[in-house]
Amino acid sequence: MIRNNAQRWGSISIGLHWLTALLIIGLAIVGLIMTELPNSPLKMQIYALHKSFGLTVLALTLLRLAWRLVAGTPDDQPGSRLQRLAAKAVHGLMYFLLLAMPLSGWLFNSAAGFPLRWFNLVQLPKLFTGYNPALKDIAHDLHETGFTLLAALLLVHAGAALFHHYVVKDNTLKRMTGKMP
Ligand code: HEM
Ligand code: HEM
Repeated sequence: MIRNNAQRWGSISIGLHWLTALLIIGLAIVGLIMTELPNSPLKMQIYALHKSFGLTVLALTLLRLAWRLVAGTPDDQPGSRLQRLAAKAVHGLMYFLLLAMPLSGWLFNSAAGFPLRWFNLVQLPKLFTGYNPALKDIAHDLHETGFTLLAALLLVHAGAALFHHYVVKDNTLKRMTGKMP
């Protein structure tokens, strides 16, 4: 089933969710390690890959939000008003960070005056021209703080998914893994 319906997520939303999750975990591990590496051509290559995969998350998130508008979302799971509100807030913030992380990275790159190519295939424009150390610092802080927030939300989010699955024993996780009866 490609589209979403009232009971479950369709294959496109499921595919985009887990591909994004995989990319974020990879980007986080590589991002945290790469800054500690000594300067070398390898370090440059790893940075370039981090940026290209990060920009891929930006594209996938835009696609995912567009698809969400077209294909709709399953009904809310039963739960208190507060639970539903918390889920919506966490999901909304995660979407925001899935856009803000790559954009702050792009801004950082632009302010540092570096060119940006997506997998050596597509040249991306600078978000503005010229070297700007003050903006570079701000963008760097946003990238770091954004990541800390995203990591905290991921813990809450994955914890909530496991709570639904093992404690409440409802279909929340099953409908995002395509395993719903
Ligand atoms: C960095 C990794 C992740 C990100 C950025 C992320 C993000 C999101 C977002 C934004 C939604 C809302 C979907 C929508 O309403 O359009 C969602 C749904 C969901 N996520 Fe994740 N997620 C991640 C990892 C995980 C993990 C590890 C699990 C399981 C342990 C998980 C389980 C779920 C489930 C079950 C839903 C569906 C909730 C529902 O149907 O109401 N996610 N995720
Ligand atoms: C969702 C996408 C992304 C995630 C989750 C992510 C995550 C991270 C993390 C965790 C770090 C380490 C932070 C630190 O210790 O300084 C980092 C560093 C970095 N990221 Fe990203 N990133 C993403 C996208 C991007 C993009 C699109 C670019 C550029 C176009 C980028 C450029 C950089 C750079 C240049 C650094 C190193 C900063 C330094 O040398 O101090 N990132 N990223």
